[in-house]
Amino acid sequence: MIELLRARRSIRKYTDKAIEPEKIAILKEAALRSPTSRNKHPWEFIFVDDGELLGQLALSKPHGARFLQGAAIGIVVCADGEKSDVWTEDCSIASILVQMVAQSIGLGSCWIQMRNRMYDDQVTSEQHVRNLLKMPNHIKVESIIALGYPVEKKEPISREDLDYSKVRINSY
Ligand SMILES: Cc1cc2nc3c(=O)[nH]c(=O)nc-3n(C[C@H](O)[C@H](O)[C@H](O)COP(=O)(O)O)c2cc1C
Repeated sequence: MIELLRARRSIRKYTDKAIEPEKIAILKEAALRSPTSRNKHPWEFIFVDDGELLGQLALSKPHGARFLQGAAIGIVVCADGEKSDVWTEDCSIASILVQMVAQSIGLGSCWIQMRNRMYDDQVTSEQHVRNLLKMPNHIKVESIIALGYPVEKKEPISREDLDYSKVRINSY
């Protein structure tokens, strides 16, 4: 795991290659194996591989989502907010675990933030996603994880670049 983390970077450019069904199955398993507070499993995952839908989801906010259009799939990580008061934590854990497992099977990925983001002056990114994917209003949207075979290769962050002053011992 530490080797995966050392190599981990956000990947936003993907080849046209589709992701094999066996790998999609692994991603589904990773999502469903994610731990949740009080084991409530408030999350749900919408796997979007329809190019037109991906193009529309890529417009969910003015910045930081356009590359979803070129992804092989986007996984919408959402949750029933009434099932858990910590659904954001549960969704975040699932999002990053999916990303790490994706990396372990040769895929690139990037988190696209949806919660607390706006589509335009009036409509939230979340509502835009809900409308597109016919989701009921009580389902909250945390993120979309864009995935595909990487085109870009990014250098790992070196250990020298880690800010160890962020880690304190015994007191602040
Ligand atoms: C909570 C969270 C939200 C993020 N939202 C976006 C996003 O909306 N669009 C995007 O392009 N990248 C997004 N990212 C990726 C970060 O920009 C990226 O992780 C950061 O710049 C560090 O780069 P690296 O992942 O290559 O180390 C997000 C990452 C996290 C953890």
